[in-house]
This record gives sequence, structure tokens and C-alpha cells, in this order.
Amino acid sequence: MLALLFFLSVPALAYESYSLADTFIGRDFLGWEWYNGSDPTHGTVNYVDQNTAVNLNLSVASNTSFLMRADYRELVPPAESGRKSVRISSPLAYSDSVMVLDLWHMPTGCGTWPAWWTVSQAGPWPQGGEIDIIEGVNKNTQNLGSLHTTPNCNMTQTRNQRGQTVSTTCDASFNYNQGCGVDFKPDSYGPGFNEGGGGWYAMQRSSCGIYMWFWARNDTTVPIEVSQGLSTVNPDPRNWGTPDAAFPTDECDYASHFNAHSIIFDLTFCGDWAGSPSAWTDCGPSSCSDFVRNNPSNFTEAYWEIAALRVYTQDPDV
Ligand SMILES: *[C@@H]1O[C@H](CO)[C@@H](O)[C@H](O)[C@H]1NC(C)=O
Ligand SMILES: *[C@@H]1O[C@H](CO)[C@@H](O)[C@H](O)[C@H]1NC(C)=O
Ligand SMILES: *[C@@H]1O[C@H](CO)[C@@H](O)[C@H](O)[C@H]1NC(C)=O
Ligand SMILES: *[C@@H]1O[C@H](CO)[C@@H](O)[C@H](O)[C@H]1NC(C)=O
Ligand SMILES: *[C@@H]1O[C@H](CO)[C@@H](O)[C@H](O)[C@H]1NC(C)=O
Ligand SMILES: *[C@@H]1O[C@H](CO)[C@@H](O)[C@H](O)[C@H]1NC(C)=O
Repeated sequence: MLALLFFLSVPALAYESYSLADTFIGRDFLGWEWYNGSDPTHGTVNYVDQNTAVNLNLSVASNTSFLMRADYRELVPPAESGRKSVRISSPLAYSDSVMVLDLWHMPTGCGTWPAWWTVSQAGPWPQGGEIDIIEGVNKNTQNLGSLHTTPNCNMTQTRNQRGQTVSTTCDASFNYNQGCGVDFKPDSYGPGFNEGGGGWYAMQRSSCGIYMWFWARNDTTVPIEVSQGLSTVNPDPRNWGTPDAAFPTDECDYASHFNAHSIIFDLTFCGDWAGSPSAWTDCGPSSCSDFVRNNPSNFTEAYWEIAALRVYTQDPDV
């Protein structure tokens, strides 16, 4: 009897399991929203609407892939705000969830500043928070994962993660909105990522914190549920390995800093980060915006090519 009670009290599997809620492959992305306003990060960009993007082949959906790119054919006319490009957001917003992105190619090259991120649908920014899963500029080779939100959300320098802590204050009003960031391993970003055929990025968010993982295409440690897009995922470090970036809740109250987020892919140029003197220095001597406007042929690698995006939740109705 005692033995039986003991047996019953041991959980079958301590992992937190999430079920597939939404899959976006190829044409599914045509149901997203194309943003065509001005760039809040002051980029040398002209975000075009969906019709323009599809007509100019800057957004190409097939049955199996979705490609979105910047124009690489034209000089930017002086009257235009910048190079034509694309910024899309998901119609639905997600709270506690796991997002798995199977990505063939990310935009790279001098002047580029792409990001795959999520942001509070209710806002106004930075209320409800922002989670940047893929982000970098210019000739970067390491991905930066970061959080930006309202005050009093901090991270400790040392955490159980594979990446390197860059900054620990997630408060967007601190240090010009640097956020709290973690650098991922080499070739998690840029030409090395693309030459290897891309890979998988994943983000888990729950009341336990926000965690990010990256596996290159040839990484044999990628969990099968991630590489095969299975219907259930268990993003426990015992199953997925130590995350590349960990943002635990020890010094950041999750519920008051992060609410339901839309998912965004964008590609801007120059602006607050790629065009800042310290970031642009590898790419000079011309100014970033002159370079972006006048050198279309340098933007042939400035494209996202997505194999699949899957969103998993713990309640199928969320
Ligand atoms: C955005 O695109 C819509 C059409 O989809 C158009 O009516 C609107 O004027 C555009 N806005 C800007 C700022 O270009
Ligand atoms: C549009 O882009 C796709 C994917 O890169 C390419 O296969 C196709 O030839 C392009 N079409 C035109 C008209 O440029
Ligand atoms: C794309 O999918 C549709 C519907 O399943 C199918 O009819 C069509 O043949 C497919 N196109 C290609 C190029 O595979
Ligand atoms: C947390 O961050 C805020 C800025 O948002 C700062 O004022 C505060 O001192 C930090 N708290 C700790 C314990 O570091
Ligand atoms: C994966 O490919 C990269 C080049 O893209 C190479 O440097 C690395 O050694 C490969 N890793 C494995 C495990 O094969
Ligand atoms: C632009 O492209 C040319 C030709 O590939 C290359 O030599 C040059 O370094 C590129 N410029 C920048 C700033 O990346």
C-alpha cells in the first residue's frame, strides 16, 4: 500500500507540455498584416503594403516557403523614405506559448537590420513588453536575444544559459532602449547561418520566464519535435538542452511586464542601431543611408525565407 501510494505520487513526466495551436507555412503568411507606416526605429526604409510587395516580388508565397525581401534592383528615389522592404505582423496575439521558427535564410549585409520579434498587441509600447528573438545588424555573426519593457525588470549577470550576457536592465527607458540582451554563439546570425542552410529558433514564455534556443541546420542535438514540427513540444532543458538565452523572473515580475504579443518579422536599414556610428563603422566610409539608397546590388542577401512557424500553447483555446 505504501509502495503504491509512493508510485502514484510520482508525476509521470515533469515536463511542461505545449500543443500545436497555429502553423504558418507558405501562403498562410498572406493572412498576416503588412505594415506600411513609417519606421519607429528611424530606418532608411519604405515599408510597402501587401499588394505592392506581392506585385514587386518582395513577398513570395509558395506551398512550402514564404520569402520576403528588400528591393535589390533600384536606386532609391530622393522623394522616398528609403529602400522598399517588408514588415508583417500576426493577426492573433499569444501569451504563454512556445514559438518554433524553421528558417532557411535571414537578411544580411551592410545596412541591414532584420528582426523576428513579438510585441504587446495592447501596448502602448513598452507596456506589455517586447521580446526580440532574432536581431542583428550589418556584419554581425552572433544573434542578440533581448527583452524591452517598463521599469523594474532586471536580469542577473550570470544565468543558466549558453549565450553571453550583454546587458541586464530590461527597462526600455534605460540606456537608449538597449534592453536586457544575450549574445548567442557564432554563426547564429548572418552569412554563416545562411551558408549552413539556416536552422531553428525557439522561444518559450510562461510565468517561469522567457527562454530562447537556436540550433543550426546540421546540429544533431536539435530535438526531433522541433526539427519535425511535431504536434507537442516539451521545452524543458532536460529535453531541449540549456537555452541560449534565459530571462528568469527572479528580478522581473512576468505578469506585469509581458502580456499577449503579436509576432513580427521586419527588415529595416540603418536607423537607431544599424546606422549608429559604432555599428556602422565596419561598413563605411559612406554614410549608411547613402549606401542603402545607392547600392541596390548589395541587397541580394537581404531576405527572409521561412520554412515554417509553429505556435504551441498549453490551452488549445488560447
Ligand atoms: C498603406 O497602404 C494602404 C493600402 O493598402 C494605403 O491606402 C495607404 O495610403 C498606405 N499608407 C502609407 C503611409 O503609405
Ligand atoms: C520572384 O522571386 C522568386 C523567389 O526568389 C523567383 O523564383 C522568381 O523568379 C521571381 N519572379 C520575378 C518575376 O522576379
Ligand atoms: C499547392 O497546393 C495546392 C493545394 O494543395 C495544389 O493543388 C498545388 O498543386 C500545389 N502547388 C504546387 C506547385 O505544388
Ligand atoms: C532594476 O531596474 C531599475 C530600472 O528599471 C533600477 O532602477 C533598479 O535599481 C533595478 N533593481 C535592481 C535590484 O537592480
Ligand atoms: C555544421 O556546419 C558548419 C558550417 O556551416 C560547420 O562549421 C560545422 O562544423 C558543422 N557542424 C556539424 C556538427 O557538422
Ligand atoms: C557591396 O558589394 C560589393 C560587391 O560585392 C562589395 O565589394 C562591397 O564590399 C559591398 N559594400 C559593402 C559596404 O558591403
